[in-house]
Amino acid sequence: MVRPTVLVTRPLPKPVTALLGQHATLTVHGRDTPIPRRRLLEGVRAATGLVCMGTDRIDAQVLRAAGRLRVVANVAVGYNNIDVAAATGLGIWVTNTPGALTETTADLAWALLLAVARRIVEGDRYVRSGRWKVWQFSLLQGSDVWGKTLGICGLGRIGQAVARRGRGYGMRILYTGRRRQPGPVEAELGTTFVDKTTLLKEADFVSLHLPLTPETTHYIGERELHQMKPTAFLINTTRGPVVDEKALVKAMKGGWIAGAGLDVFEREPAVERGLLRLPNVVLTPHIGSATAETRTRMALMAAENCAAVLRGERPMTPVNPDLTPRPVAPGKSLDKPGGRP
Ligand code: DGY
Repeated sequence: MVRPTVLVTRPLPKPVTALLGQHATLTVHGRDTPIPRRRLLEGVRAATGLVCMGTDRIDAQVLRAAGRLRVVANVAVGYNNIDVAAATGLGIWVTNTPGALTETTADLAWALLLAVARRIVEGDRYVRSGRWKVWQFSLLQGSDVWGKTLGICGLGRIGQAVARRGRGYGMRILYTGRRRQPGPVEAELGTTFVDKTTLLKEADFVSLHLPLTPETTHYIGERELHQMKPTAFLINTTRGPVVDEKALVKAMKGGWIAGAGLDVFEREPAVERGLLRLPNVVLTPHIGSATAETRTRMALMAAENCAAVLRGERPMTPVNPDLTPRPVAPGKSLDKPGGRP
């Protein structure tokens, strides 16, 4: 019996490939850099499953080239890299990794918040450069975090985890978003729902946790940055295009806000040049979920989703739950090529 094939676009931890290997023959892109487009298009042609990263553009061209594909298992919670409508139209499951990276990403948002408010990176550079000769009363004075107002845009899983941390710092917590959370959630987190303008005007720290959609592209632009306090900080750990980077540089140069902590960028891995020259911006290379434990958990979750579909089952965390999967031709099995019309 010929086994199905799964294309994996990055080298992944052994337990992940072992799990997938129980169900399929694997084709693994052997480098931890994006799979070249040509290899992706070739590789999906015979694949029944695709385990991919948020950096892989899985558009209609890829999906149409993949005549046998039944599942795209993204190793990420965000799935703006995948044309979900095209996949759904073709009867292909799309899955993500909700929950696997919540606390880890909230930790990174918090690390950026503390780093920029307390000038940690500037301090580190100062000490290493040998410029520290004497203790000074005024040296690297930053801003308090405890007791301030935290504004969370998007109180989903990660936004809630950021809010819980804010409680520990005795903060007043505002949130905004498309949907208001049920009363018990608000009460447990000690959050207050406000409109976007109120949040921007009142928050000392604005942390972004909205998914990237056409509606949230440039959610923070010139107008919003003008609404923020000159003493406020912006933290972005969701997706780069949620912030208009050019407007952010203008805002920082003009003193409209006090600083920013950014893990994601509009045109990754390119970074708006103006940001690189600003001392009051802390920049990290999209590492929100980058701990060994969490990245392994995410990859395992994607592998489990893929394996479920290979077994003919429903995946655990589909982003297109109402899918009518591509039918398997009568008398054929998923394990045989040609098993799907
Ligand atoms: C996600 O899961 O969406 C992250 O951005 C990938 O690390």
